[in-house]
Amino acid sequence: MMATVDPMVLSWHQRASRCKGRQRPFTARDLACLSPRFTRPEPIMAMTFGTPEIAQAQTPIPRLPARAERAESFEGVESDMQDNIWTDFAKSYDQIIPQLNCYQQMLTKILRDTEGRRTVIDAGCGTGLVSQALIDRGHQVVGFDNNSAMLQLAHDKKADAPDEAGDRWTVMAGPVERFPSQVVSDADAVVLNNVLFYVRDAESALREVFSHLKPGGVVVATGPKRRPDLRKVLRHSIAEWQAEGRYTEALQAAVDHHTICAQKLTTDPNEMVTFFEVDELVDTLRRLGFSRPLAADGDDYYGENYYVCMQK
Ligand SMILES: C[S@@+](CC[C@H](N)C(=O)[O-])C[C@H]1O[C@@H](n2cnc3c(N)ncnc32)[C@H](O)[C@@H]1O
Repeated sequence: MMATVDPMVLSWHQRASRCKGRQRPFTARDLACLSPRFTRPEPIMAMTFGTPEIAQAQTPIPRLPARAERAESFEGVESDMQDNIWTDFAKSYDQIIPQLNCYQQMLTKILRDTEGRRTVIDAGCGTGLVSQALIDRGHQVVGFDNNSAMLQLAHDKKADAPDEAGDRWTVMAGPVERFPSQVVSDADAVVLNNVLFYVRDAESALREVFSHLKPGGVVVATGPKRRPDLRKVLRHSIAEWQAEGRYTEALQAAVDHHTICAQKLTTDPNEMVTFFEVDELVDTLRRLGFSRPLAADGDDYYGENYYVCMQK
């Protein structure tokens, strides 16, 4: 099945997987260095998430260097940074996530709902995939996250951007429950793309969103409606990649690494903590002061995710 993807997103997406410094795509050889498991071709279509077979097959994944050893430091409150599961996800995140048609479809909706809204806060920006697409559309973007490894990749994207784009892009450290003090308080839009599921006190984050928006500004929040079936998402995605002839060895290797991280994410009850049904999130946002839903559906990620855009 070919997905309809906004051509702007596609051109950005192709650029995002370019071979450059630390951003070059994972190859099978890279992953073989990480773990002997990656040298074995796995029957990927027959993956069984959360089963003892997968658990036994896991070998420890080396961690990225500790924060103190990394070259970059970020604006923001360093003590708020977390060394958590996203440190491991960062190793394959940009090799797999932008390739997912379901991610691109959600991104297309985010670009639609932020169009014409100049200043956008990308809260929980991760590696900067949404920020980069917004920058390419001419927005002013402030992205922040509380995981150094993810944020480093956002920082690298900003560093690679042309000067004019880099001047519109701020990357900083901080938690979504308490936005960094340098973040603008009169944004036109705030995006929380696939972030709230990891946040225990999601209401604090949504209150912060409200207080950082100008009247008429919008929040876009997305995430899983319930503990997600990531096996289903990957099964669909792999079938699409195969049909499109782009299921390369490097992508298979990235899927393999992502699968191991995702297994812990989805089975450890302390990892994914907050889910919303569409109506439940709309009601919550209304209670916090938001007025009008502009978009609200549960279609993304093959029916696993909510997508809500609501106006202050
Ligand atoms: C699934 S990733 C999504 C990243 C990005 N929004 C995207 O669309 O690619 C989730 C991100 O949320 C970040 N995150 C989770 N909880 C957070 C918190 N309390 N404060 C800041 N960032 C958080 C993680 O570090 C991770 O980078």
